[in-house]
Amino acid sequence: MTIIYVFPAYVANAAPVVASRLIGRTHPIDRRSIFIDGRRLLGDGKTYEGLFSGVICGLFMGFILNFLLPPLFRGIIEILALVIGAVLGDIGGAFLKRRMGIPRGRAAPLLDQLGFLAGSLMLVAIAVGLPAWLDASLLLYIAVITLLLHVGTNAAAYFLGLKDRWY
Ligand code: CTP
Ligand code: MG
Repeated sequence: MTIIYVFPAYVANAAPVVASRLIGRTHPIDRRSIFIDGRRLLGDGKTYEGLFSGVICGLFMGFILNFLLPPLFRGIIEILALVIGAVLGDIGGAFLKRRMGIPRGRAAPLLDQLGFLAGSLMLVAIAVGLPAWLDASLLLYIAVITLLLHVGTNAAAYFLGLKDRWY
């Protein structure tokens, strides 16, 4: 299962939604600062609580998978890159959305669903190189499955009352 490889990134992307709800009082990473374009640097949707919960839960998932399915990752650096790349990709996506004038929480199709995945795989590529088995068609497969899963899990989170919007 190819998708198992990016599962730590999924967890890193999903944990903040739950964590921010559980914690309640959250602190925006941009400290409410305004960028030169007059808009928020990142917005209230990217918080320290989300960042830390994403990294911790993503790493935890990575270590569990690494233990259960040994040759899956080539080492701790690869897991770290998958997880930190996912979190950075998500934050980078918010930065781009704000620069495009899209308010926090409003939809940016594809960027919302795939930004974290792009960040994750890019940091893996930089840190240890993409795995040899991950060819172009598998990348496309991962992107399509991620898109569908993201839409599905977000809709589920909406119905569970974890999110205010279905997308
Ligand atoms: N979240 C967080 N910290 C992060 C990432 C996410 O607290 N670093 C929480 C926020 O409560 C956020 C929710 O997870 O609202 C869903 O994440 P996401 O959809 O990425 O954020 P949006 O609210 O849609 O904001 P943006 O438009 O900036 O993407
Ligand atoms: Mg969103």
